[in-house]
Amino acid sequence: MEFKTAVVIVFLSCLSCSVGYDYKTVLRKSLLFYEAQRSGKLPADQKVKWRADSALKDKGWKGEDLTGGYYDAGDYVKFGFPMAFTTTVLSWSVLDHEKAYTKAGVLGDSHKAIKWATDYLLKCHVGENQLYGQVGLGQLDHVYWTRPEDMTMERPAFMINASAPGTDLAGETAAAMAAASLVFKTVNATYSATLLKHARQLFDFAYKYRGKYSDVIADANTFYPSSNYPDELAWGAAWMYRATREQKYMNVVNEIYPTIQYWDGFSWDDKKGGLDLLLATLTGESKYLDKLKTFCDYAFNKQTRTPKGLIFYSESASLRSTNNMLIICLEAAERGINANTYRKESKKQIDYMLGDSGFSYVVGIGNKYPKHAHHRSSSCPDHPAACGWTFFNSDVPNHHMVEGAIVGGPGSNDSYIDTRKDAPHNEVACDFNASFQACIAILVELGY
Ligand SMILES: *[C@@H]1O[C@H](CO)[C@@H](O)[C@H](O)[C@H]1NC(C)=O
Ligand SMILES: *[C@@H]1O[C@H](CO)[C@@H](O)[C@H](O)[C@H]1NC(C)=O
Ligand SMILES: *[C@@H]1O[C@H](CO)[C@@H](O)[C@H](O)[C@H]1NC(C)=O
Ligand SMILES: *[C@@H]1O[C@H](CO)[C@@H](O)[C@H](O)[C@H]1NC(C)=O
Repeated sequence: MEFKTAVVIVFLSCLSCSVGYDYKTVLRKSLLFYEAQRSGKLPADQKVKWRADSALKDKGWKGEDLTGGYYDAGDYVKFGFPMAFTTTVLSWSVLDHEKAYTKAGVLGDSHKAIKWATDYLLKCHVGENQLYGQVGLGQLDHVYWTRPEDMTMERPAFMINASAPGTDLAGETAAAMAAASLVFKTVNATYSATLLKHARQLFDFAYKYRGKYSDVIADANTFYPSSNYPDELAWGAAWMYRATREQKYMNVVNEIYPTIQYWDGFSWDDKKGGLDLLLATLTGESKYLDKLKTFCDYAFNKQTRTPKGLIFYSESASLRSTNNMLIICLEAAERGINANTYRKESKKQIDYMLGDSGFSYVVGIGNKYPKHAHHRSSSCPDHPAACGWTFFNSDVPNHHMVEGAIVGGPGSNDSYIDTRKDAPHNEVACDFNASFQACIAILVELGY
């Protein structure tokens, strides 16, 4: 008996001590990345001190205040579609894995990260059927390599409305607000109710007026073109159902679901995998879990891998795609599908990103991490030193650390060069991080 007990103790203690990565720290730093991406007037409790107020003149066509929100990536455009997706994913993670955020001591910070986005999205919703979906122009923004605090280029705003609809954008923004309303339900009931009111209007707007937002907002079509909108419509409906439990929203899910035609993955453009997860929980029907099992079994067993074992989907921002897949399969494991295998395999993938590959792709984690991320604001020296393209083209490391940001990631043969010039592999972005953060939260909750 004693022998057995001893074995069990050794076994258990090794489970928790032999692991090289402190996921709680990663989770904490991940929230710092969102602070670094803040646009607008920064609050007194801002922890990322190398940032200051910026883009204080962002406004709508009638002078509406559109300050705030997040810069998209290494640039300063506020793209509403990926920002709303990021907000939905962060809210979902905090909602279902609050324990992890509490354990890491960042529940309050996670609420602030969500509210920074939803405060802005509320400002963008200027009329029942009117939603600003972008501030700034990608083409123009990308001409400059400078600090956000020093920007002087024009930053026009772009809107969707009843005569120029964007079902995908309105549906995803409704999802973001519905999910956030659940997060804030016990934190601030007034704010929660405001979010739900706007979510209802935005969902009705999405349902009544159909079209792709990127057909309306031409600049977004170059950077975040939507493949189609039925997935966001059903996803928005599922979130509305979760937030209200009103059958009319489930009826929309059932009406739209069969018309979704794309693969079962998850990304700023494809919501199918997330939708199946949500519906598995909301309905208890096994058909949704069956789809997830097929998707995850394929991903773990058949999807291309790099020589060092990373599940690999795309040359550009490879880790974003892997993390989007992992969050679906970690959540599938939470629902009892191949739990041990999916968790073990997912942890290996995350550990590859944090250093098992010989390099950490998360800024500020481990000893070897990106020092030249393609990220304007952290790269530039402090005012009044010059920034610009000469600096961009130099080998000088970034002046500040955009802690907690995950870069695009390696190529198909594990290759990676730490240079600002390689945006496909070395840029950072809000939506890259959202799924990564959500994966880390599950590992924290599991006690890994
Ligand atoms: C990106 O994800 C990783 C893992 O949580 C984290 O280290 C980094 O700080 C994250 N940033 C965001 C925005 O989640
Ligand atoms: C609706 O949006 C389109 C495209 O952004 C714009 O051209 C049009 O002026 C808007 N209509 C109103 C009434 O705001
Ligand atoms: C709750 O939210 C409302 C509306 O946004 C805000 O005015 C109020 O200050 C918040 N209350 C607390 C306690 O944070
Ligand atoms: C690895 O892939 C990169 C592109 O991602 C390519 O430039 C490089 O030549 C490849 N290296 C090897 C050794 O195959």
